[in-house]
Amino acid sequence: MTSENYKQIQTMKNRSLISIDDFTKEEYFSVLDAAEQFERKPVQNILDGKVVATLFFEPSTRTRLSFESAVNYLGGKVIGFSDVSSSSVKKGESLKDTILTVCNYSDLIVLRHPREGSARYASEVGTVPIVNAGDGANQHPTQCLLDLYSIRKTQGKLDNLDIAFVGDLKYGRTVHSLVIAMTNFNCRFHLVSPPELKLPSSVKMHIKEKNLEYYQYTDLSEVIPMADIIYMTRIQRERFSDPIDYEKVKNAYILNRSLLGNTKPNMKILHPLPRVNEINEDVDDMPQAYYFQQALNGLYVRQAILKLILGL
Ligand code: CP
Repeated sequence: MTSENYKQIQTMKNRSLISIDDFTKEEYFSVLDAAEQFERKPVQNILDGKVVATLFFEPSTRTRLSFESAVNYLGGKVIGFSDVSSSSVKKGESLKDTILTVCNYSDLIVLRHPREGSARYASEVGTVPIVNAGDGANQHPTQCLLDLYSIRKTQGKLDNLDIAFVGDLKYGRTVHSLVIAMTNFNCRFHLVSPPELKLPSSVKMHIKEKNLEYYQYTDLSEVIPMADIIYMTRIQRERFSDPIDYEKVKNAYILNRSLLGNTKPNMKILHPLPRVNEINEDVDDMPQAYYFQQALNGLYVRQAILKLILGL
């Protein structure tokens, strides 16, 4: 390890991971490089004696289980809950009291919560590092890092790519984090959404600040031939206050085999998952489909995050 790498790794030690823009491009690379090592050797006993708490106030399959799997492969122990009705939250305990209590029992907390800003708040009141596993429609930084890993692995680089983001760009927290991260890499952004689900101005501001190009579309077929990455997303039903509004847009985009006749040879389809029906199953065995491999990459990236934050 070079002294420069060592210095960068030290900067993540004991830090919470709340928003992707709290971290530098160099820190992203520290995570991706460490993840590559875990992909080569996922079983390492470096978390012996460490306890990681996973507190999930919203449903999850990939984020919670890949974190728990990461801890298990690294020899640590996991505590936590995935159903708030089995915790004292059900009795009215506040987030602050829950965090202060669980800090007594663990070395790091992975938190998913429906309220935007909840992870930041937890990091301000807590005494151990907090990893944001999704706070409402705001941010999902560990998903972002595994998306960066997947893009680098499939494209051989992160720079100068044409990335199409498709679907619910308003409520999709994975989109918000990844757009912000990719503004570090001179990309062109192709934003495909229904008019009512456009990327929020607060996220577009990051693109504008870097003087990068972005284009907005409502028609998915326009972007398919030019994209290096197509990042599909689910319409986030749980964020709509009126179910009728969800019904209007729920099937806005459905990617299927017949739409993929003219793509760049390097093009890959990513999706943070879960999908509902925005990618037809007839795409799953096409060479462009990368979303299940992407979910596997989450294991290695989360191992890297645990290692770097716990300073091991
Ligand atoms: N990508 C993602 O956050 O998936 P889960 O909701 O299953 O954790």
